[in-house]
Amino acid sequence: MIDFRSDTVTKPTPAMLEAMFNAEVGDDVFGEDETINALEEKVAGMFGMEAAVFCPSGTMTNQIAIKCHTQPGDEIICEKLSHVYQYEGGGIAFNSGCSVRLIDGNYGRITAAQVEESINNKNDVYKPISKLVSLENTANRGGGSCYDFEDIRQIKKVCEANDLLLHLDGARLFNAIVAKNESPKNYGKVFDSISICISKGLGAPVGSLLIGTKEFIEKARRIRKVFGGGMRQAGYLAAACIYALDNNIERLKQDQDHAKLLATALQQKDFITSMMPVETNIIICEVNGKYSAPTLAEEFRKHGILVIAITKKQIRIVTHLDVNTAMINETLQVINQL
Ligand SMILES: Cc1ncc(COP(=O)(O)O)c(C=O)c1O
Repeated sequence: MIDFRSDTVTKPTPAMLEAMFNAEVGDDVFGEDETINALEEKVAGMFGMEAAVFCPSGTMTNQIAIKCHTQPGDEIICEKLSHVYQYEGGGIAFNSGCSVRLIDGNYGRITAAQVEESINNKNDVYKPISKLVSLENTANRGGGSCYDFEDIRQIKKVCEANDLLLHLDGARLFNAIVAKNESPKNYGKVFDSISICISKGLGAPVGSLLIGTKEFIEKARRIRKVFGGGMRQAGYLAAACIYALDNNIERLKQDQDHAKLLATALQQKDFITSMMPVETNIIICEVNGKYSAPTLAEEFRKHGILVIAITKKQIRIVTHLDVNTAMINETLQVINQL
């Protein structure tokens, strides 16, 4: 099967497994896992931030960040399709007791003007206190769209002027960094916290990191423990993450080139009625006529290709390091026959 359902389906390569096998480990709750300590230091350094904490998932890093930045009754501003709101099981309410102000964005991106319009008057006792802005880059349900960095800077200015904190759900941030030829350090300068996932597109089996100031990360470690995310000899997983960061960032360009090839072929088909701009490794398109999204997914499956029908009308295709150019060529042939 050629699996385009998600960039989370990748399996560790023999070289990654060897790095895991050779890891020095210890009890991380005691701060004694050398490999985790090295990973946290490496990632904080990449972003020019003070500290980082290793967690099992991107949901946990996002939820810890929200918990650390807010008090019950505060409000979080984010785009209507953002992962923190749509796909984290209502965690914002469950874990942090906060409400959410949703913005109708542009393929998952929001603007400084929209943030400004969404801030509640602090002196109005009827309203929750606007506390945190959460951005997503790349935006998963925006078809892997990326922000222009200048737009993020403008949002930061609004946050500074209004006492708001700024969090980044950067589950696929390295895809944005590669597509826009940016530097992680610029991100470290503007965000109060950044979540990155090493298990999406970079090939690690498990692992996300939350990055921020030393004080913030100390608080985050406490919340991680409360959420049940304190791990012991997890250096074996951290070793996979170090391997992924050293070897699999630049190659994301290849996934993006592969996505563009598939997108061009799909656009020739009259049952593909629209497609979100393909900026990174995700294709989201609308299906109508000869197929519905589920019947198109089924047709692909018959040809040994897995894609996801995310709604009755939309399919999602994600390229990643376990899909090579030969598999892309095979998929292009299938698309041509449909
Ligand atoms: C944008 C985004 N944020 C966060 C997550 C959550 O990551 P995890 O599945 O590791 O909890 C995902 C998962 O796909 C995601 O796409």
